[in-house]
Amino acid sequence: MELLDGQLVSKTIKEGLKLKVGQLIAEGKKVPHLAAVLVGDNGASETYVGAKVKACAEIGYKSTLLRLEEDISESRLLGIIEELNNDIDVDGILVQLPLPKHISDEKVINTIHPSKDVDGFHPVNVGKMVQGLPTFISATPHGILLLLEHYKIDTKGKHAVVVGRSNIVGRPMSILLSSNTPTGNCTVTICHSHTRNLPEICREADIIVAALGKPGFVKADMVKKGAVIIDVGITRVPDAAKKSGFALKGDVKFDEVAPHSSYITPVPGGVGPMTIAALMKNTFMACEERSGGSLI
Ligand code: GUN
Repeated sequence: MELLDGQLVSKTIKEGLKLKVGQLIAEGKKVPHLAAVLVGDNGASETYVGAKVKACAEIGYKSTLLRLEEDISESRLLGIIEELNNDIDVDGILVQLPLPKHISDEKVINTIHPSKDVDGFHPVNVGKMVQGLPTFISATPHGILLLLEHYKIDTKGKHAVVVGRSNIVGRPMSILLSSNTPTGNCTVTICHSHTRNLPEICREADIIVAALGKPGFVKADMVKKGAVIIDVGITRVPDAAKKSGFALKGDVKFDEVAPHSSYITPVPGGVGPMTIAALMKNTFMACEERSGGSLI
């Protein structure tokens, strides 16, 4: 069993981006600028956005964090996004999800201009991703592909089982793994709450991507010997022994599954840091494109 060390790979990617930012500065060019929008005071969202802003600082990007009240109206939020769309200094816009119940995720995502949608959530960018066209690929699936690429994990012809069908992770992951690319060409099964015989299906998988948000859902008896295990789950579970009062738990029972696997991501330190690295790559690409690139 080998650990897929997202912390390490993310560090390498961020160092590469830092060098590229140094080149931009030496050439007198603009550095990438990410605007992050955080609505309300969800503790987990605070942590994630904080990590994204910190990564920008490490790499040398400019970042702006807009903290908005929980009770902000939907129309005011959409207005703020329009302002960011029109701000020529801003390259990428990220609105942290989930949003309060009175705000439609869909309207917010649709309002972000596709050229600044570094999360890759806008239907235009999702459509391009589905068609295999260059675009922003949403950060978590993108980060997972970067991890597979780094560890030279052969995906061609493999049976990948994706558990979870969210717009952010499961669905795009299933499409990307089946695409005709070096980190694709899998035969993909996507499982969800109505799937019958889920343990049997998982047992047939060469690669399992667990993205359902249920701590410890994937157990040893659901995993074939030598499978590659990607754990996207990161749920806060109360733990009095921790200073924070909670522990972070993945969707996979790591201790019992790890011995069965060939590769496995830890939680934390696996997919989480890769999500940030991918977002940073997307933000660099947004800046490049806005400075006259022609990729997207
Ligand atoms: N909430 C959970 N994951 C993500 C993500 O990748 N981007 C945004 N904006 N919100 C999230």
